[in-house]
Amino acid sequence: MLTLGIETSCDETSCAVLKDGGQLLSNVVSSSLAKHKPFGGVVPEIASRHCLEQIDLVFQEALRRAKVSKKDLDLIAVTYGPGLVGSILVGLSFAKALAYELKIPFVGVNHLEGHLSANFIEDSPPKGPYIGLIVSGGHTELTYHKGKSVKLLGSTIDDAVGEAYDKTAKLLGLGYPGGPIIDRMAQEGDPKAFRFSKPKQEGRFDFSFSGIKTAVMQLVNNGHSSLRAPEGRSNDRADLCASFQESVARWLVEKTISACRHKKVKEVVVGGGVSANSRLRSLLTQEAEPYRIRVRFPSLPLTQDNAGMIARRGWEIYGQGKRSNWTLSAKPNLKIGES
Ligand code: KG4
Ligand code: ZN
Repeated sequence: MLTLGIETSCDETSCAVLKDGGQLLSNVVSSSLAKHKPFGGVVPEIASRHCLEQIDLVFQEALRRAKVSKKDLDLIAVTYGPGLVGSILVGLSFAKALAYELKIPFVGVNHLEGHLSANFIEDSPPKGPYIGLIVSGGHTELTYHKGKSVKLLGSTIDDAVGEAYDKTAKLLGLGYPGGPIIDRMAQEGDPKAFRFSKPKQEGRFDFSFSGIKTAVMQLVNNGHSSLRAPEGRSNDRADLCASFQESVARWLVEKTISACRHKKVKEVVVGGGVSANSRLRSLLTQEAEPYRIRVRFPSLPLTQDNAGMIARRGWEIYGQGKRSNWTLSAKPNLKIGES
């Protein structure tokens, strides 16, 4: 069975062909990142125009690389939220038109669920309940999965973790997107050089990341304006990156392990752009080990927005008997488990 995945929830335009839920024949991503860089963040109008220009080209390229024709497709899986409404509508309209032309079913996919399902392309899903950790530019969520049901345990009360990375990098003049840059710089720095106090939230499994961003801002504005090293070291930007990354990873890991113990589950599935983070990957794996909790991360290319993960999630929900109809519309604020 061949599933075409379509992902246009933000600045990427992506199409993928997935065979039988487990073999990615192609996964083409066209990013508009370079066009947003001068603005230090994604400009929605630029993103949706890029999707419109690229969608047909990316679709044709996905077919070409998979060595299939559009008549071979059996199912279309398309992101319908959450994300930028203009971008989502491009992919959704394209999916509907194609499904109509080819007379095949289509299913709307929740982008956040897609991030977790990215893990299941290369590895079969957990047999029992598991904890999901979604860490992206727009979301930070801890979820509990049992059978088909998904329950939100906690989420960020302010900035998403990826957003905190991006804003911190901007404050340090490092460029956009901040996550990969800070991750790289952190390798050269001392994670103990700066201390950030742990945020306190009401909800046991909620997160907060705006405080650490403000703390970095204060360091930049007062005392460390040049960000020269406190004790004659010349590496303080790298130290700040390493310290920021260590704190953020520790907060994420602590709550994730605590959620596993609370729910008595032995598996964690992580997804979203920040799941590429080297420290999060090593620390979570290391801290889960004494509790015999197994942690899964997607392979690096599948951590970022891509249509392969949408095809996989669509294939799963189609297998559960779900179909979408022509009235399906973009849902920019779609919540996990809502679809
Ligand atoms: O999931 P994603 O591709 O898009 C959204 O759905 O938001 O995530 C993008 C986010 C950006 O904030 C980016 O800075 C962050 O993922 N990111 C990282 C790393 N690579 C990407 N954050 C930390 N470490 C990384 N290595
Ligand atoms: Zn994403």
